[in-house]
Amino acid sequence: MKVKITETVLRDAQQSLLATRMPYSKFEGILDKMDKAGYYSLECWGGATFDTCLRYLDEDPWERLRNIRKHVKNTKLQMLLRGQNLLGYKHYPDDVVRLFVEKSIANGIDIIRIFDALNDLRNIEVAVKETLKRGGEAQIAISYTTSPVHTLEAYTKLVKEMENMGASSICIKDMAGIMGPQEAYDLVKAIKETVKVPVDLHTHSTTGLGPITLIKAVEAGCDIIDTSISCLSGGTSQPATESLVYALRQLGYEIDLNDDILKEINDFFKPVKDGYLESGLLDPFVLETKTDALSYQIPGGMLSNLVAQLKAQNAMGRINEVLEETPRVRKDLGYPPLVTPMSQMVGVQAVSNVLAGERYKNVSKEIYSYVHGEYGTPPGEIDPEIEKKILGNEKRITGRYAATLEPGFEPAKKEIGELAKSTEDVLSYIAFPVQAKKYFEKRAEKEENRAKYTIVKA
Ligand code: CO
Repeated sequence: MKVKITETVLRDAQQSLLATRMPYSKFEGILDKMDKAGYYSLECWGGATFDTCLRYLDEDPWERLRNIRKHVKNTKLQMLLRGQNLLGYKHYPDDVVRLFVEKSIANGIDIIRIFDALNDLRNIEVAVKETLKRGGEAQIAISYTTSPVHTLEAYTKLVKEMENMGASSICIKDMAGIMGPQEAYDLVKAIKETVKVPVDLHTHSTTGLGPITLIKAVEAGCDIIDTSISCLSGGTSQPATESLVYALRQLGYEIDLNDDILKEINDFFKPVKDGYLESGLLDPFVLETKTDALSYQIPGGMLSNLVAQLKAQNAMGRINEVLEETPRVRKDLGYPPLVTPMSQMVGVQAVSNVLAGERYKNVSKEIYSYVHGEYGTPPGEIDPEIEKKILGNEKRITGRYAATLEPGFEPAKKEIGELAKSTEDVLSYIAFPVQAKKYFEKRAEKEENRAKYTIVKA
């Protein structure tokens, strides 16, 4: 049996280890080689890359994508998209979602991995349809979590709906790295028995389970796994590409990767990594194996958030109460997967419930919107009493929230005016208004200076 590899070093690995701060110039030199390695796809765009390009790196994210495409002519380019939220956390109108997908594919993307934090398929439908319409592959992802309502039956029902929606492939997205090997085996097996499309497993090495979990997933029939070249693997990143290739080949699986090229890729990134270790951007802390997430059943990132919140309020002594309150809040809210932004929302609420001495006395705007139905339908039931306490006389929205939004492209285009030079620019502005505007202004200034220089030279 053949196993395919999606390499994450250009997106998730550097997002998990380096806060996505690797500029294009740092990896341009290896792209031609990466194209020849034999990867199934390179995950290289979307997620946090778009925001950091504009905010910190003074790069046009669309230009980065076009440049990658120039070098990577044969291997599929892949991006991560948060359904109706695109690359952020709020819902965008359908016209914006469609245009964003269209332009992503026009600028070089082949595969769009599309997910919703609550697995509400109404939040990914528009993006999936547009991807297929534009000739892209729509890889629909499950936001993986465990709870009494997240049963194998619930997951298989979900993937059946995903297949009916036109999914080119299905991804199990274990963003917290909490999935164990048996869970992976059972889930992949159940999914393979339910749908015909390929299955991909995405996990992280955070708890140390990653590589074992991937191996068991492959044994159950998983077609594609996500890994990162070894020097930027492990810890909060993905398991190492070379180790998984080695282990899987030993187990009799076939993998189309060239070991010599893998070594060249790793040798290329070694000094890059060393530079980031030296500058402090890469904190060795994120490379450690952290098993706390397993005993508390909450993701590692969320745990450090809880600790930070309590420290800030001089209340570290109440950490145990907060750790007990966190799963209760999650249950009250219908077991949302603990991914951004839900993990932060649940954590803040748990701290507030403990410190205020009364549960749901204080409720954030985000929790209100969630209970109001603006994020979609929760996986389980929201506790009716708590719903009443939070919403008062207001009623929950049951329809698709994005359907209530006015078209967004034309107004944004008018608003940003001359500063935007293309449809892509307007989309950047819609996604990250403040950062995009600053970037456009700087760009215009640079162009003006260049023009001056040219005149003087002439
Ligand atoms: Co990830």
